Amino acid sequence: MEHTSSPDTQIRDLLQRMTLPEKIGQLQLVNGAGGTIPDDLRAAVASGSVGAVLNEVNPAVVHELQSIAVHDSRHGIPLLIGRDVIHGFATVFPIPLGQAASWNPEIVRRGARIAAREAAATGINWTFAPMVDIGRDPRWGRIAETLGEDPYLSGVLAAAMVRGFQGDDLSQPSSLAACAKHFAGYGASESGRDYNTTNIPEIDLRDIHLPSFKAACDAGVATFMTSFSDLNGIPATANDFLLKKILREEWGFDGFVVSDWESVSQLSIHGLTPDDRESAFEAAQAGLDMEMASTTFAAHLASLVEEGRIPAQRIDAMVENVLRIKFRLGLFSHRHEHTEDLSVIAHPDHLSAAKDAAVESMVLLKNDNNLLPLATTERTSIAVIGPLADDPYEQLGTWIFDGDERHSVTPLQSIRQAVPEDVTIHHARAMATTRSRDREGFDEALRCAADSDAVILFLGEESILSGEAHCRADIRLPGNQEELIREIAAIGKPVVLVIMAGRPLALEDVIGSVDALLYAWHPGSMAGPAIADLLFGAAAPSGKLPVTFPRVTGQIPIYYAHKNTGKPAIPSEVMHIDDIPPRAPQVSFGLTSFHLDAGASPLFPFGFGLSYTTFRYDNIRTDTPEIQLGDRIVVTADLTNTGDREGTEIVQLYVRDLVGSVTRPVRELKAFKRVLLQPGEMQSVSFELHTDDLAFTNRHMQRVTEPGEFYAWIGGSSETELKARFMVR
Ligand code: BGC
Repeated sequence: MEHTSSPDTQIRDLLQRMTLPEKIGQLQLVNGAGGTIPDDLRAAVASGSVGAVLNEVNPAVVHELQSIAVHDSRHGIPLLIGRDVIHGFATVFPIPLGQAASWNPEIVRRGARIAAREAAATGINWTFAPMVDIGRDPRWGRIAETLGEDPYLSGVLAAAMVRGFQGDDLSQPSSLAACAKHFAGYGASESGRDYNTTNIPEIDLRDIHLPSFKAACDAGVATFMTSFSDLNGIPATANDFLLKKILREEWGFDGFVVSDWESVSQLSIHGLTPDDRESAFEAAQAGLDMEMASTTFAAHLASLVEEGRIPAQRIDAMVENVLRIKFRLGLFSHRHEHTEDLSVIAHPDHLSAAKDAAVESMVLLKNDNNLLPLATTERTSIAVIGPLADDPYEQLGTWIFDGDERHSVTPLQSIRQAVPEDVTIHHARAMATTRSRDREGFDEALRCAADSDAVILFLGEESILSGEAHCRADIRLPGNQEELIREIAAIGKPVVLVIMAGRPLALEDVIGSVDALLYAWHPGSMAGPAIADLLFGAAAPSGKLPVTFPRVTGQIPIYYAHKNTGKPAIPSEVMHIDDIPPRAPQVSFGLTSFHLDAGASPLFPFGFGLSYTTFRYDNIRTDTPEIQLGDRIVVTADLTNTGDREGTEIVQLYVRDLVGSVTRPVRELKAFKRVLLQPGEMQSVSFELHTDDLAFTNRHMQRVTEPGEFYAWIGGSSETELKARFMVR
């Protein structure tokens, strides 16, 4: 029945007519059977004891499920159909960490829009994305799904992703309800082991881990998902500080909050509750609205209400939150009957957008003697070596439930197409997988390299080595890859290393053996064309690292926005373990903060990335030496393309608050801009900062800007030296 009254009125009306079990049904998300409807699911939907289903992508089955909900259940409330649409659907875009390296909100928005369009065509109306957890630990497999280490960059890109998934209007048939996850602190798990404990001081929670969630909230994200992890002793799924105080009271969120997979029943495994009944109680009272996969709400909420432990109004509020999103999605206006034409799935336009995203996501980390772009006219033969050169599946990355490798174009295929006919391509896989420990393929690979004028190595990690629960204690290249690199390098041909991986890898021991390094992450369906365009110069790299690259695993955590400490490392005094004289007295050197075997600096800093041209920054200035609280200041620098090719630079603004009532990071990213310059062209690049942009959380948990002296840097990475000062009065 088409209603004319407002959603609020309709929700109130529904709540009056629904029984308690029907209400609780709206709070249950169950796993679909994948292509069929078992009798118990059919009965559950018809009786109204299920309000949402995940992992059902067969359009006919989704349609039938909706039809049972709408026509056979008493109130005809349509279902939410959820799915992990993380970085594309059938068309796979770069992993989120790769997309973040584009520093391009429009690329990120477009990727999510396309993913939404393809997924929605099957009847899906809810995605469990974006993941906006802060990723500062590359051991953690799920860093692949993050938008990097920085709260500001993650926030800008999270908002773009929400806008992409949800479109201009959530009720459009091509829009999905988005889900900001995993609320909150998940990325800080101890030693990067997934699901592990987190202890995060409230100040850090507010200034580091929550801003990207706030940005998603401000962008209108429809739903939140709680984290599996324990936050300061209270698992996130039962954490009322997060779910009530922050999310509802401070941010005014009016969508609904879903648990993670069985994270309600896991409350007793954490040891917070003795059993499922108490888990249901704790989660519902803390502010959770919907339970995923486990069924403690279904089993216990009704009796908890009857006993008076949970007020009936609390259940009504939970149901209201869920129904509000169903209304916004247009589900009550028969949106589910207008699923789109399936021909949008892996449409050529989508694949072409995935290629653009892949091009922008790749980061050039080394390019000695301008080896890249490779000049094919001078090469008569190129060796393409490695287990990831021609593997249509492994280039897709983690979380690609619906990714279809038949749409993948591999680097080997694209390189063959990109080079003139008289260029010979020698190909050797060298290793069965990136983890292989044998040398069986080495001889052939070395022969290939010896017979060629240049070598392109495709190494890194298969998809399965990152993602949920796939953490590593040692983030070097796995298997025999380091050995392979060294042996190939010893032949003496120019070597380009292309890494596909779901995380930053520790490359200190091999970086010296290669002439060029292109970091491709897991680029998705169009890895091949994107990489070929970059290698041969049809496109120029513009990506910048969204996360710091350590030299060795033991440096983790290492991130640019660290505190200064009372004894910061002094580069000229950083001593290496090999240089320590015998019997050196304890206090004779090195009384600052660094590792004897790794120094203090990362291999590549946050924000870093080369282009095929070069850029010079100079003449940094502010429009005024001082501002009052509430005012704005403009910081400007001149950027010149000093090379002989066109290039895009991602210009970054960092700030340091020199003295704070709570110590401040040595630098914080505050803004960035993409600038395209022709050779020789100069542009003045300006950023406007409001004093609110300088705010942080003080000892009383208030967000304040404190007057005093600030530094501002503009440059092409977090290590830029070009600095101005200003005062806030
Ligand atoms: C993951 C979530 C995901 C959910 C549903 C969980 O294991 O942590 O990120 O959305 O499964 O697939």
